[in-house]
Amino acid sequence: MKDQLEALRLEIERDVKAAKSLAELEQIEIKYLGRKGELTSMLKGLANVPADQRPELGALANKIKQAGLDLIAGKRDSLASSRYDAIAETERVDITEPGVRPPEGHLHIMTQTIREITSIFEKIGFYRIRYPEIDWDWYAFEALNMPPDHPARDDWETFFMDAPSTKKGKMVMTPHTSNGQIHELERHKFPIRMLNIAKCYRRQIDATHTPMFHQFEGLLVDEGVNITHLRGILDYFAREFFGPGRVSRIRPHHFRFTEPSFEVDISCGVCGGTGMVEKKKCKVCKRGWLEIGGAGMVHPNVLKATGVDSKKYTGFAFGWGIERVAMMKEGVKVDDIRVLYQNDVRFLKQF
Ligand code: DAH
Repeated sequence: MKDQLEALRLEIERDVKAAKSLAELEQIEIKYLGRKGELTSMLKGLANVPADQRPELGALANKIKQAGLDLIAGKRDSLASSRYDAIAETERVDITEPGVRPPEGHLHIMTQTIREITSIFEKIGFYRIRYPEIDWDWYAFEALNMPPDHPARDDWETFFMDAPSTKKGKMVMTPHTSNGQIHELERHKFPIRMLNIAKCYRRQIDATHTPMFHQFEGLLVDEGVNITHLRGILDYFAREFFGPGRVSRIRPHHFRFTEPSFEVDISCGVCGGTGMVEKKKCKVCKRGWLEIGGAGMVHPNVLKATGVDSKKYTGFAFGWGIERVAMMKEGVKVDDIRVLYQNDVRFLKQF
């Protein structure tokens, strides 16, 4: 029995030494030292040994058990630490190396332009407001001096909602931001210095139109407002948005909701408003000026429709396309407006 015990000690030593993983080591412990392990079953055989030899053999068995447990514990430590060594090696990070910047996006050119326009007008006391993009006919047309069936409505290729009409008419997807004028006037809070920026919808698509686009609508109404105030603001915007040296001009036009009405032009940044570059016609504008959009003095019928005293208050309004002004900016070369909404990162990241 003594020999058997000694042989077991050697076997344990050999196996523990050879173990390559913690799992293997655990199996070894179970095999030799566990409750049903080899050492335990050998101890059961002590009953058959002469009584005078039992204490010595018992002590030896305990010694072997303790030595085995110590050996396993030592091996466990060294396996664990070599596992950490391996992790440290494969997952090594040089914290002194310069980092890799994650790719950073930026705002869409339309959002940038909306923010820029907003801050230009906020500097002179305008406040930004958002009126509905789905609205009643009353706001989109009728109160703007375009009674039902008036042919002027045909200029706006309007989408109508499939919804019951009310006293305020049918619902439309706003074809312009001028509906904001009516909402703002109905509040009767003077002076009015509204900037309504919203999406507009028209049944049009080609290189210069998308069915969804943006406009910004200015409305200034107070006592004693006249055309010179409008002129000042147009020049201010030309300078702030397009650059110093740029000016505006107005040409007579017709809109139902303004009287008089104008078409507003901005002097071309390439030829400086002369229409000529080195004795040749300017390629950008051909005539010195770029058309930006409509404006005018608020029509008295619009004031009346909203219950505003048109003897006391006067004002002006303007409504321009945001895509258009963004594309008119120097350095922005976009010859097809639709590309703004195709979400092609190669295009968008230029701005
Ligand atoms: N709402 C007009 C359009 O979409 C533009 C416009 C013209 C707005 C004259 C105005 C204005 O405020 O005074 O074509």
